[in-house]
Amino acid sequence: MVRFIVHVVGVALALASLGLAQSQVRIMALGDSITGSPGCWRALLWRKLQTAGITNTKFVGTLPGQGCGFTYDGANEGHGGILATGIVSRKELPGWLSSSKPDVVMMHLGTNDVWNNQSPAAILAAFGTMVDWMRASKPGMKILVAQIIPMKPSNCAQCGQRVIDLNTAIPEWAASKNTTESPIVVVDCWTGFNPATDTGDGVHPNNAGSQKVADCWYGPLVTAIKG
Ligand SMILES: *[C@@H]1O[C@H](CO)[C@@H](O)[C@H](O)[C@H]1NC(C)=O
Repeated sequence: MVRFIVHVVGVALALASLGLAQSQVRIMALGDSITGSPGCWRALLWRKLQTAGITNTKFVGTLPGQGCGFTYDGANEGHGGILATGIVSRKELPGWLSSSKPDVVMMHLGTNDVWNNQSPAAILAAFGTMVDWMRASKPGMKILVAQIIPMKPSNCAQCGQRVIDLNTAIPEWAASKNTTESPIVVVDCWTGFNPATDTGDGVHPNNAGSQKVADCWYGPLVTAIKG
């Protein structure tokens, strides 16, 4: 009888810890058209999680997924043309956060800022305000910040270097804003991405580029989901 009870308690504990491990994690992909329109790297990322048996996720945001060739969990916060500095000047993020209540934010932003010649300092100041808003929404927010993909649009010869300058400044900024309760993890989506072959227009990932962006997020996102 005692052995039976011990066994039942053991099974109950195992189920409880399983339940805990599988509680749903709400993930917001925040960015511009690279993230939202269509942002098929999110579809590939979602499928990669499914294939690995990581199904306790819900992608959230005020925008619907777009067609990427298969059904996936597509809600997102990828607003075409948006600047980080614009999100902050219009105070848009608090409303998006309160509608979607994410546990994890994965942010790929700055492309349109550098295109509009915003300085790294101005962009990182905007990132800082956004991090404060994320923590106001959830004190334990897990924040993944991309070192963004390289760009080579035909109308901006300087943009390639501006992206490098922004990406170079991100780690020190992130470390200065980091807390144990709400960790910021820098995700390198720049290395290995070639705008000549991984985009059609110098900016937006094609199929090859989408796979690379899915791959750069995957490991850090899995850590955030399991952590
Ligand atoms: C922030 O701290 C976490 C540990 O809490 C660490 O994993 C992460 O790399 C740190 N981020 C930065 C940018 O230093």
